[in-house]
Amino acid sequence: MSVTAVAHPNIALIKYWGKADERLSLPATGSLSLTLDIAPTRTTVTLDPSADQHVASWSGEPMTGSELERVSAFLDLVAERAGSRTRAVVETANEIPTGAGLASSAAGFAALAAAASAAYGLALSPRDLSRLARRGSGSAARSVFGGLVQWHAGDDEGSFAEPIDAPGLDLALVVAVLAPGRKAIGSREAMRRTVATSPFFGAWVASVPGELDAMRAAIARADLTAVGELTEANAMRMHATMLGAVPPVRYWNADTVAALDVVAQCRRDGVEAYATIDAGPNVKVLCRPEATTAVADRLRAAFADVDLLVSGSGPGVRIVGP
Ligand code: DP6
Repeated sequence: MSVTAVAHPNIALIKYWGKADERLSLPATGSLSLTLDIAPTRTTVTLDPSADQHVASWSGEPMTGSELERVSAFLDLVAERAGSRTRAVVETANEIPTGAGLASSAAGFAALAAAASAAYGLALSPRDLSRLARRGSGSAARSVFGGLVQWHAGDDEGSFAEPIDAPGLDLALVVAVLAPGRKAIGSREAMRRTVATSPFFGAWVASVPGELDAMRAAIARADLTAVGELTEANAMRMHATMLGAVPPVRYWNADTVAALDVVAQCRRDGVEAYATIDAGPNVKVLCRPEATTAVADRLRAAFADVDLLVSGSGPGVRIVGP
């Protein structure tokens, strides 16, 4: 039995940062994201009755170490639910270089959850698929769906993502790839350190629900200005929270700050643009689709030879074949 699934990355407008339960991958707060239409991950899962362990490869390169352990643990979870002891072969490929910070675990585990659950014969509802993807990587719960998506905090049953109706709100994202390369500290470890040591973490957990409500209201009235302002403010708060950790977690570099200045200058020039930053130095600029050229031109003027990726709203995970 062989199944192939494709999923896209998502970028959070209200971030997920910190877990309430590590084993079940339950977030400390809800979050809200935009699924992209670029950088898909394509994953094929084939059951192999003769194998005695799972094997996995990434663009033809065998996975090893902690990467393979994480994928194997996830496959064990799926196999156990299906009442199967059969092992799987996973082949996965991503169209974007890892350094762009978009070869995310979100697209990877959403595609793996869809392909593996189908290969093992589990017929999951989209909601249960989102709950399963969450176990691989929290943000993967959101890549199960397209467009704007909210992932709820809750217990194992209640923590799933679902799509949000956003009539009349057309969003685009310009990603400035400022420093390709491996990040200093993985988001998993950085989250753990923030939860354990940052005195600001409690304030973060207390403020996110109100930000989610405000974001939902802004989306419902298709108010790009409010969506953008809430997005940028939330990203600043997430990074403030981790800067308070011991030792501090700092993903920004000088170019990150310079890109924030470019985005602020866009606004002064009448181009509506708002920045968000994840667990890396790259800056993602939220704007209307008509504004992507103006935003890209200004980023190019500020950073010679910068790699820019432009994305619109993308689809949820889907099975594309055997
Ligand atoms: C900064 O979903 O990669 O991108 O659950 O440990 O796999 P794990 O973390 P992950 O964290 C994403 C963090 C973020 C914010 C977000 O996407 O909401």
